[in-house]
Order: sequence, then structure tokens, then C-alpha cells
Amino acid sequence: MDRIRITGGNQLNGIIPISGAKNAALPLMIASLLTSDTLTLENVPHLADVEQLIRILGNHGVDIAVNGRRESQGEGYSRTVHFTCRTIVDTTAPYELVSKMRASFWVIGPLLARDGKARVSLPGGCAIGTRPVDLFIEGLEALGATMEIDSGYINATAPSGGLIGATYTFPKVSVGATHVMLMAASLARGTTVIHNAAREPEVVDLAQCLTAMGAKIEGAGTSTITIEGVTSLSGARHRVLPDRIETGTYAMAVAMTGGDVLLEGTRASLLENALDTLKLAGATITETETGLRVVRNGNGIHPVDVVTEPFPGFPTDLQAQFMALMTRAQGVSHITETIFENRFMHVQELARLGAKISLSGQMARIEGVSRLKGAPVMATDLRASVSLVIAGLVAEGETVVSRVYHLDRGFERLEEKLNRCGAQVERVSD
Ligand code: EPZ
Repeated sequence: MDRIRITGGNQLNGIIPISGAKNAALPLMIASLLTSDTLTLENVPHLADVEQLIRILGNHGVDIAVNGRRESQGEGYSRTVHFTCRTIVDTTAPYELVSKMRASFWVIGPLLARDGKARVSLPGGCAIGTRPVDLFIEGLEALGATMEIDSGYINATAPSGGLIGATYTFPKVSVGATHVMLMAASLARGTTVIHNAAREPEVVDLAQCLTAMGAKIEGAGTSTITIEGVTSLSGARHRVLPDRIETGTYAMAVAMTGGDVLLEGTRASLLENALDTLKLAGATITETETGLRVVRNGNGIHPVDVVTEPFPGFPTDLQAQFMALMTRAQGVSHITETIFENRFMHVQELARLGAKISLSGQMARIEGVSRLKGAPVMATDLRASVSLVIAGLVAEGETVVSRVYHLDRGFERLEEKLNRCGAQVERVSD
């Protein structure tokens, strides 16, 4: 199994191209199930999660053709991918596939809306928390679906004339359930109003793509979204928005090591809260015509308290990375995780590098230390793994991060991007 070996101590200087967003690409790909025409997505990142979803969609009858790549970036960078689902050949999403990637559960929305039925495995828990699906069930029931749980599967059935528009208020903000309601309501009869919808940029991206496919959606990006159902959707061409979590991750890496890096092809509006937090921590961030320039020269890292929240708050997907940064702050900071109940697996691993962190319920107290020292570490999820890479960039000596497959789920060419800016990061195969 591959590992990543980091030799710490180098500043980052140069240009890092930001890829298309994993968490936008996944629901956009799933939206291809809604039409018999071709949906073409540009800027699809080359990631293990994307490849896994390609396999899952293939199982439902989606033909996939990959071509094109950005000039001068070589093989493997974000691509243009064509998805065509002439007919849905199978409305079952089996446990073996859904359990590997939670987002594949979201196929339930399009399958139900287009074919009137879906049998989708319950995803089960995962490393960062229990992650139930009650909001999906309630939301689709509000559209008239019958939802039955049977042997670990949800059997969903639409009324004979198809899903029916309705008003539904989410009791809690959920990105995935908002995606599913958007897709399902686009093909429902009548108007659907969703209150307390997720406002994440990835929801807006999906709404824009659905609109290009002929859906009638208003209010995406606010808490109330109105969808007027249409009888069918057509193909479209859509560009996946830049990855705000990748953006924030590299911005934190630069804040950690010091240096001057242009994060190319991204924009500040995707992550204002995280950028403001980084500025308080001592980074200088400016938006340029081509991206975001992140600089930290000379000054130390200041402690800053953060609380994770749904967008536009500080993202849970940057919590681990920010904690890594705070391990080197000049003082004490607190990080409160409010989205997932078990998203602190990186704490014990950061401690192996010399970090001083104590946990009390959902809050971590981080006492900055003047040095970290390299060690072998491992993590059980994507963002936790990359937090260890960030810590490794400044740790003395060698840090070896195992279970690299977590990183490959969400970071396109991580080693290459960091090394081009002066880091010493190497993939080691056993
Ligand atoms: C999305 O997950 C992202 N995944 C996650 O990124 C991200 O951490 C999360 O949103 C929050 O921003 C993708 O976009 C593929 P939620 P999602 O439904 O949609 C609870 C990463 O590292 N909940 O917004 O699954 C849930 O347990 C991943 O890229 C219910 O209680 O998250 C959580 O506490 C990890 N019932 C909260 O809502 C439900 O039916 C928010 O989860 C659904 C969710």
C-alpha cells in the first residue's frame, strides 16, 4: 500500500493549479441519470471517488466517455467527461458500491424521479460519524414517494403519475439531501419549495447545471429554493467549479510553511470565512485576475478560534487542516466541530508529531508548540490525512503518512503540486 514521505522544513513558493471540486463533480455526475441526452462536464478532477462513481453510474446504464485535458498539464489533471444515460438499466444501487462512497446514495433522487422507483442500499456509518439518511427519506416522502426499509436497503416508489411538488422544511441543513431534493423536484409535477436548504457553492453549481438542462430553479445559494417541475430534462455542457476545500488546504499549507503561492483558477467568494480566519492567523491573501495569492513571510502564526458551520461558515472539511496549522501557533486556540460528531481522528496522529491538543466533547484545545518532529502517522479519512501532510511540511525530519488511498479520494496530484512549489514529498510503494 502506498505511503507519502514528507521531509519537512521547506517554504512553499510558486503556483498551484486548483482542480475542479470533488464535491460538485459527484452530484453533477449523478444528475446525468435525469436525462437520456448527453451531459458533458468540464474540469472533472481525476480522483478515486470520481472513478468509483463512474463505476456506479455505469451499473445504472450511464455510458461514459473521457477526453480532453488542459494543455501543458499532462495526463491525469481535470478532464472533460461525457455522460449519457439513454435508459436506466438498473434501479438498484447495491451495498458493495454504496458502502464504499456515501455520495453514491444520492442516485436515489434521479432514479426515483425518472423511473419511479429505486432500491438503494443504506450507506451505513463512516469514520467521521453515524451520518443517517432520515432527511432524504423525509424529503422524498414529502414529494409523495413511499420509502420502505428492507434488508439494509431503501425501496423508494413514486406515485403512479410521478413525484409531486411540495413544500418541505429541512429540520437540519444537509448538503446531500439538498442535492437530492433539487434533482428529484426538477422532474416532479408542480412546484417544490425547500426551506432551510444548504447554501454551499456546490449546491449552486448543481442548480446551475440543472438549469442548463432545462430545470426551473430559483434561490439556490439561499436557504429557500423553489423548483418548478418539468416533464423532461435535456443534455447540457457545464464546467465544474473550483475546489474550495483544495484551495483552503493549500492556503493553510502556505500559512504553515511560509512563502508565496498563487492558487490558480480559484476565487475568494467560495471560502470567504476560511480566508478571513487565515488572515487573522497571519497570512496575507489577495485575489488576483488568475486566482488567490497567499503569502506569509516572517511573522509567526497567531492563534484563532473557529467553529465549523454550514456554508457560509467555516467548513468542516477544513477543520483538520486548520488544526494542523494551529499546532504551530504562538498561543492557545480552540476548534469546535458542530457538523460531524467524530471528526477528530487526526488529533492523536498530530500528537505523534508533537502537537499539544486536548479534547473535550466537540471542542479541541490546541496549545501551539515551537516545533513538530516527523513520525509515521496514519488517518482514517481524507481531510484528516491531508492535515498530517500539512504538519509534515514543517515537522523536522521525515513524516510518513500511510493509507494514502484516503488522499487519492480527494486531492489530485498532491505530491506534484506541492513539490513544484519546493516541498519534498514523495510517494513510496511497498
Ligand atoms: C457533504 O457530505 C460533503 N460530501 C462532505 O465532505 C462535507 O463534510 C459535508 O457535506 C458537510 O459540509 C460531499 O459533498 C460528497 P451533510 P454530506 O448531509 O452531504 C447530518 C469530504 O471530506 N445528516 O451536509 O453527506 C449528517 O450526519 C466530505 O469531502 C442527518 O442527520 O453531509 C451531518 O451531521 C466528508 N441526516 C450533517 O447532517 C441526514 O439524512 C451534515 O451532513 C443527512 C445528514
